[in-house]
Amino acid sequence: MRLSKIIIILFSFVFISNADSLSAAGGEAYKNLKPGFSFEGPFGKFDRESLKRGYQVYSEVCASCHGMKQLSFRNLSQPGGPEFSIDKVKEIAAEYFIMDGADEYGDPVERARIPSDRFQSPFDSKDAAKAANNGAYPPDLSLITKARSDGTNYIYSLLSGYEETMPDNITIDDALSYNPWFPGNAIAMAQPLYDEMVEYTDGTEATISQMSYDVANFLTWAAEPSMEERKSLGIIVMGFLIIFLILMFFSVRRLFEDVH
Ligand code: HEC
Repeated sequence: MRLSKIIIILFSFVFISNADSLSAAGGEAYKNLKPGFSFEGPFGKFDRESLKRGYQVYSEVCASCHGMKQLSFRNLSQPGGPEFSIDKVKEIAAEYFIMDGADEYGDPVERARIPSDRFQSPFDSKDAAKAANNGAYPPDLSLITKARSDGTNYIYSLLSGYEETMPDNITIDDALSYNPWFPGNAIAMAQPLYDEMVEYTDGTEATISQMSYDVANFLTWAAEPSMEERKSLGIIVMGFLIIFLILMFFSVRRLFEDVH
């Protein structure tokens, strides 16, 4: 077979499979809302208070279904994150329990967590997680903002974007919820946030939009806990390069002065 034919066949496969996935979806996902986050831009830093509130939302609401296995409790006290004190982190970790080892009779033993433990899934297995959620798996949230394009804004839009009434041309399974930001518009996660669902310790009003914003911020930090360090290193490198360029410019000029 000639190469051009093979290429045409390969291309048509790509188009056909794309067309299929488009028609399978219930509806087009909306464009993400952009509430504006302080970490955006080359000099941006995380808003610590928002990260602390975001942690509160994750732990009080999302953690009952979603784990964050890349994140340890001690990360919460690291510079560049919510920066809880280490004593506070010990207190937070101790609120969670974990099965660890066995006693002299071989029975599993439960112990309070310590700062080096991670935020594991609350379910014992993937099957148990699915069984509790109508067959859908609540994904680990450690890297979710990186796993979705424009992740932070997407998560903000998804969480604050559940709508009770849906357009007439869309029908979805009873076990699913309508969410115009989710690809396909029908999501197996029931609306997780409602006004005043958490009581923020800093007195901020816990609206759906505020909680969505704070938890999206927290999940962005969790996916890249050293973002601030990376940005400040980038600025130092750029500064060095600019100084280097200026020095090169003058030394090349000096060099050519002597030539003629
Ligand atoms: C009662 C269980 C439950 C709770 C509580 C819950 N979720 Fe979910 N979540 C799910 C399930 C199940 C899915 C899978 C949905 C699907 O694939 O249709 C999911 C999916 C997601 C997704 C992935 C969406 C995508 O694009 O694939 C994100 C992000 C998410 N949840 C964030 C959160 C956050 C943040 C909270 C807390 C505010 C939260 N969830 C609370 C069960 C839950």
